[in-house]
Amino acid sequence: MRSRPPEALTEAEAAEELAALAAEIAGHNRAYYEQDAPTVSDAEYDALFRRNAAIEARFPELLREDSPSRRPGGAAAEHFAKSRHGVPMLSLDNAFDAADFTEFCARIRRFLGLPAEEVLRFVGEPKIDGLSVNLLYERGRFRRGATRGDGTVGEDVTENLRSLRSLPQRLAGPCPDSIEIRGEVFMEKAEFLAFNAQQAERIAAGERGLRVFANPRNAAAGSLRQLDPGITAQRPLKLFAYAMGAASEAPAATHWDYLARLRDWGFEVNPLSRLLPDAEAAAEFQQEMAAARAGLAYDIDGVVYKLDRLDWQARLGFVGRAPRWAIAWKFPAEQATTTLERIEIQVGRTGALTPRAVMQPVNVGGVIVMHATLHNEDEIARKDVRIGDTVVLQRAGDVIPQIVSVVLEKRPAGSTPFAFPETCPACSSHAVRGPGEVVRRCTGGLICPAQTVERLRHFVSRNAMDIEGLGEENIQKLFDEGLVRSPADIFRLAPHAARMRQWEGWGAKAKRPEESKKVPNLLAAIESRRHPALERFIFALGIRRIGEANAKLLARHYRSFPAWREAMLAARVIGSEAREELGSIQGIGPAIAQELVDFFDEPRNLAALDDLATEVTPEAAPAATEADGPFAGRSLVFTGTLETLTRDEAQARAESLGAKVTKSVSKKTDFVVVGADAGSKAAKAQELGVRVLSEAEWREMAGLG
Ligand code: IVH
Repeated sequence: MRSRPPEALTEAEAAEELAALAAEIAGHNRAYYEQDAPTVSDAEYDALFRRNAAIEARFPELLREDSPSRRPGGAAAEHFAKSRHGVPMLSLDNAFDAADFTEFCARIRRFLGLPAEEVLRFVGEPKIDGLSVNLLYERGRFRRGATRGDGTVGEDVTENLRSLRSLPQRLAGPCPDSIEIRGEVFMEKAEFLAFNAQQAERIAAGERGLRVFANPRNAAAGSLRQLDPGITAQRPLKLFAYAMGAASEAPAATHWDYLARLRDWGFEVNPLSRLLPDAEAAAEFQQEMAAARAGLAYDIDGVVYKLDRLDWQARLGFVGRAPRWAIAWKFPAEQATTTLERIEIQVGRTGALTPRAVMQPVNVGGVIVMHATLHNEDEIARKDVRIGDTVVLQRAGDVIPQIVSVVLEKRPAGSTPFAFPETCPACSSHAVRGPGEVVRRCTGGLICPAQTVERLRHFVSRNAMDIEGLGEENIQKLFDEGLVRSPADIFRLAPHAARMRQWEGWGAKAKRPEESKKVPNLLAAIESRRHPALERFIFALGIRRIGEANAKLLARHYRSFPAWREAMLAARVIGSEAREELGSIQGIGPAIAQELVDFFDEPRNLAALDDLATEVTPEAAPAATEADGPFAGRSLVFTGTLETLTRDEAQARAESLGAKVTKSVSKKTDFVVVGADAGSKAAKAQELGVRVLSEAEWREMAGLG
């Protein structure tokens, strides 16, 4: 659907896609800004954003309350106090080659009106990919420290910063009364790998609330933005100081002297920083750093060049958000060649077969890489990637490595195009591609062990049933031992406690005290989850397209498990009232409805669900918030144009009063609110004897006056 131009979409399709885009982009935002674990490349993210904007431009009336276009990402996280920088923290313009750098120098000369004989002296500093911080010192004491945030306001992470060994609590020697010192917090590559490995081990052992990070930058950011400073203190974070914000007096006349002052005060300044007498020296430094890059202890993605004279910096000032006196000269994207050993096919929870390239390990700009994503079978065909090929790999910034191209001259004789399997590698069931789909899926459903294990993992995961202590490896073990084949089995483990305790690492011959508690702890965690919220329960079932947001919509609408189950069974009949009702839930489009119906249409799914329901009792979704109001528990349809408030606002209000808002009028509808130019829905309401309210009446009853 994504590929169709917005003009070709119907309003319903557009609404559905906007809902999906809002959820998807919000997910990527969370991953990027809150969890520091990006899930897509910048280009893919931008494409989603543009698609959203294009559809909104075509259907302005569908603009959602939670539309990504309404909120720029990266605002300060809620749980830290906000901290305003004395002067904004800027970003840098980029140069990608010598010509860009020459143009940067020419612009400085033009702006300052310098004669030809005047040389430009620069300081070059390796550009580390970490996160920048602003450190306020008053009378030489560290007072406050903040992340960059949106450049004007960041997050106050003072206590966390105090735990960094390279941050002086007190400046040694004379200093301005008040000064903001800026620098980069980062993690070294080796420290990052060791830290990540340790995290992975703990996660595999079932520990909760931990994660691995995609790269050192995210690890540094995630570590600094901990609510508990004690955790930050355990992370191997370093700090290089390199810039100045607001200051009560100028501490130096040149940037190079300022760096010397920073060292005197007790900061670490990157020892590779160098004073460069002219632009030619800068170009040579660039070459030198590009060559040194792979051997450095930390990732760098370029070199920052700053004009040395601070009086010139002051005259040059800023354009937009970047200074005219500094530039980041980036290195070209990191590439390397290696050979493709095989293509593995992984089977996901919904049966999707995903290819993954396994290559001869290779160093791509300082990171050892042996896996790359190949996305899907069309992508393999398009690039014509074959086993044994020499491939060009690229690692661009945060993104998972990609295979850019194949070196055809090196292709071994007699190679054949990769034949994508048409059966599932885990259960041998047919794997099929639906019309218009790019993904091939295993049809084995519940008999497919790969899907079963993935579904079980999903079922117990944090946002689903949240069973602590059931990590990936433990689920696999329980499955392999034949104790858990379906979600219900998890709740029938207690009689097997003695057997489980015999397993290595599960208790009996415990070498570590925490092992002896493993089985009782696990069983207690399971017991504590017998009454999940209905929305978690629905999400945990792992039905295709039923993510957290849709699960919530369903739970709110149907309220109880028996009501939902009955409605889904009835909705299998096209044209039935139940099907209409399902389709009328805002946010549940026809494709989602179909997935639900398909799930309930499969007897094995229903059997597994009913079996589970003998062990688990989902809690009914909360009743109306204002239980006594006229709309509590009632269903409501808005039609026509409302004059005093938007549809979204009206709907939000109605929902807060405990009403469910649907799109179509049926016998079950309690109220129809008619705005201007209301059409068939108003007529239908009349016909069915449903109570019709004018906008004014609705406002009155909704307490809007
Ligand atoms: S100076 C106006 N110096 O690059 C000066 N920034 O794109 C702006 N960075 O957010 C900052 N190393 O995180 C400066 N030696 C360095 C740097 C550096 C890395 C990062 C910093 C900033 C970004 C600007």
